[in-house]
Amino acid sequence: MEGFEPTIIAFVCNWCTYTAADLAGTSRLGYPANVRLIRVMCTGMVDPKYVIKAFLEGADAVLVSGCHPGDCHYINGNYKARRRIKLLKEILPQFGFDDERLRLTWIGASDGIQFAETIRKMVTQMKILGPNEAKLKIVI
Ligand code: FES
Repeated sequence: MEGFEPTIIAFVCNWCTYTAADLAGTSRLGYPANVRLIRVMCTGMVDPKYVIKAFLEGADAVLVSGCHPGDCHYINGNYKARRRIKLLKEILPQFGFDDERLRLTWIGASDGIQFAETIRKMVTQMKILGPNEAKLKIVI
C-alpha cells in the first residue's frame, strides 16, 4: 500500500531493550520513526490486555521485547511473556489479526544494532501486510 506508514507499539523492558533503543539513538543508528516505545520494568508485566488494546486503538503491529532467557531481572518474567505471546498468537487470528503483527524478541542492552534492525524489518513487513483491519473498522 503506497504511502502507508505503519504504527508499531513496542513494550520494551527497562533493563534490556529500552537500553538498546537508547544505545541505537546515542550511536546515531537510523531506524524508522514508526515505533512508539512503552517502557515497562519487565516483559512479564505486559498484560495481554495491553496488546489487545494497542491493536484495537490502531496499532498496526505490537512488539514485546526484553531480556534474553536467563537474564530477566525478575527471574522468570520473560518466560511468562513468552507463554502469553504464544497464546495471543493462537487467539488473535480467530479475530482476523495476522499473527505476524505481534512479535516477541530478546534484545539485550548492548544490542542497539539489533534493535534498529528489528524495527526496520517490522516496518517493511507491515508495509507489505497493510493497515491493521481493526483500525480500518474504527475509522469507518
Ligand atoms: S527484566 Fe527484562 S524481561 Fe524481565
